[in-house]
Amino acid sequence: MSDVDDKITSLLSEKRLFEPPLEGREAAVVGSLQSYEESYRRSMEDPEGYWAQRANELVSWFQPWHTVLDADLYQPEVRWFDGATLNVSYNCLDRHLKNGKRDKLAIIWQGEPEEEVRTFTYGELYEQVCRCANVLKKMGVRKGDRVSVYLPMIPELAITLLACTRIGAIHSVVFAGFSAMSLQNRIQDCEAKVLVTADAVLRAGKVIPLKPNADEALEQCDSIEQCLVVRRAGLTVRMQSGRDSWWHEAMAADGISPTCEPEPMDAEDTLFILYTSGSTGKPKGVVHTTGGYLTYALHTTQWVFDLRDEDIHWCTADIGWITGHTYILYGPLGLGKTSVMFEGVPTYPGPDRFWQLVEKFRVTIFYTAPTVIRALMRYGDQPLRGKDLSSLRILGSVGEPINPEAWMWYHLHVGGGRLPIVDTWWQTETGGIMISPLPYATPLKPGSATRPLPGVDAAILNEEGKPAQPNEGGHLVIRRPWPGMLRGVFGDPERYRTTYFEGFPGFYDAGDGARCDEDGYFWIMGRLDDVINVSGHRLGTAEIESALVSHPHVSEAAVVGMPHPIKGQAVYAFVTLNAGVEETTELLAELRVHVRTEIGPIASPDVIQYAPGLPKTRSGKIMRRILRKIAADDFSDFGDISTLADPGVVDDLIKGKEASG
Ligand code: WT7
Repeated sequence: MSDVDDKITSLLSEKRLFEPPLEGREAAVVGSLQSYEESYRRSMEDPEGYWAQRANELVSWFQPWHTVLDADLYQPEVRWFDGATLNVSYNCLDRHLKNGKRDKLAIIWQGEPEEEVRTFTYGELYEQVCRCANVLKKMGVRKGDRVSVYLPMIPELAITLLACTRIGAIHSVVFAGFSAMSLQNRIQDCEAKVLVTADAVLRAGKVIPLKPNADEALEQCDSIEQCLVVRRAGLTVRMQSGRDSWWHEAMAADGISPTCEPEPMDAEDTLFILYTSGSTGKPKGVVHTTGGYLTYALHTTQWVFDLRDEDIHWCTADIGWITGHTYILYGPLGLGKTSVMFEGVPTYPGPDRFWQLVEKFRVTIFYTAPTVIRALMRYGDQPLRGKDLSSLRILGSVGEPINPEAWMWYHLHVGGGRLPIVDTWWQTETGGIMISPLPYATPLKPGSATRPLPGVDAAILNEEGKPAQPNEGGHLVIRRPWPGMLRGVFGDPERYRTTYFEGFPGFYDAGDGARCDEDGYFWIMGRLDDVINVSGHRLGTAEIESALVSHPHVSEAAVVGMPHPIKGQAVYAFVTLNAGVEETTELLAELRVHVRTEIGPIASPDVIQYAPGLPKTRSGKIMRRILRKIAADDFSDFGDISTLADPGVVDDLIKGKEASG
């Protein structure tokens, strides 16, 4: 093992480029840097021509558009492919059946228990989706209605989403790791008519009940008329009569036809809502539309993963996040390829689980997160020994910057030193990948997402809004619309405008800090707002703070990110208690549980420090900069603290931290 580690160290100090593999270039969709650069140039010179061509190549439209793009980012107002109609499930299913792919595998599902594998050909998936669409219709779901989906990583999740798109219902997936309260807030916000959930989640060998969360959430969700429940674990659950029904019964009911006409949707009709954290307490419902999102999903899947008919594509994300929406479901199925869906976790029953599955299914494209790589690196190369990973062709990374050590480990141990790594930068709001290498075209620099995809006009701006110099850090913005961009924050146009379009008028503000080097390579540094990135998941510090202060003993809370070797960032909370409440360790545990119940386990603070006072300016603003340094154990150079109302609190916090050890 030390051989490889030595190699990692020396390669890193070389700062050399990793050239794309020669083998496979001819068959690649983009096989040279020159070909990327030509496309990029064309996409900037004639964006509408470029996207019209891509949209025609990739998507089957019922009606053509009359206008490719109608946009004004100052407003903001963005419409792509106006006048066109299409249906997403038609694009993911029907058209492939017509193209002789009825018996091709669409989904390979691996349950957490090794023996539980279910596969769906395009023909089989089509029938399930049509049935589910008919079930939803029977429940009263109509075009434009919202359906909330709170499911583990089981095939019914994919089936439900495609069924929604078939009838023009808007899906809103809530990650099954979120709490009842989070689910409730999200259902209330979009006023969903139906909830689809399951009895339980299987996770790391445990059965975690899910339906009780749904029940608790639904206690205050007047909009919900029906709840469809998938039996995953065979738990006994309470079924509320008149509201709840079993999936397996509803799908097999008399009169549920195995076919269903796809609803023609306008290109700009909403396809789905997905909630994500922002800098205020309330998550925002990011709105994606039908024509632009699908075009962008297919375009990026084809380019970045070079997806071919014989590929077995495995994106390890959960469909509860955008990564799963775009790169488990819509991208691969829209292109008629085979997508692996895995219910389990990377380290159960052992840290070789992922590699064993790569071998088992002969996975060719493997897309995961840096936090997974870092977690698996800890076990060394032992779990990889004896695994046949020779099917792999491309590796991918997403969710946070990948540190060069993890990059090298991934490249050498998983990729055998021969595979390209596509480090893909994007966001829930962008719908698909924005900045990324192309596997057979782009020379790689470990830690850099490299260059923007065609059509993506990325730039770094300094505080004055002027283009930054090479290597000067600044704000990452996108200077023109792309088809996959969000079209709104559900029910809150003002928040849409102020969050993304106010900072740099006329541009989309990604909220990330980055620099661009002399070769035009982008290096993402992380969020510039009060959002932290824990294991590749976005958490709003304000959301966690409001969860903490909702506890009766807490008067004030300030949450910051702290560096964490595996998660990237961890949640560090400073908590001020109400007068007279004792600072006990029991209360610390209680506060952690409280955050779990309010938001979910991912938001539970790793560290809670009691803070008799918080560093505030005289106008009452908490100076998080100082708290971040304390959380990171960096007690040097706090900068100018003279504006603090009480500079003494800084010393108190440091002493408090040292005392708690
Ligand atoms: C934020 C978006 C859609 C991806 C999954 C997370 C960070 C994402 C990278 C990357 C550096 C990255 C950014 C971004 N991020 N990918 N390759 N390198 N940072 O989606 O929850 O919407 O979070 O994740 O900070 O803004 P998300």
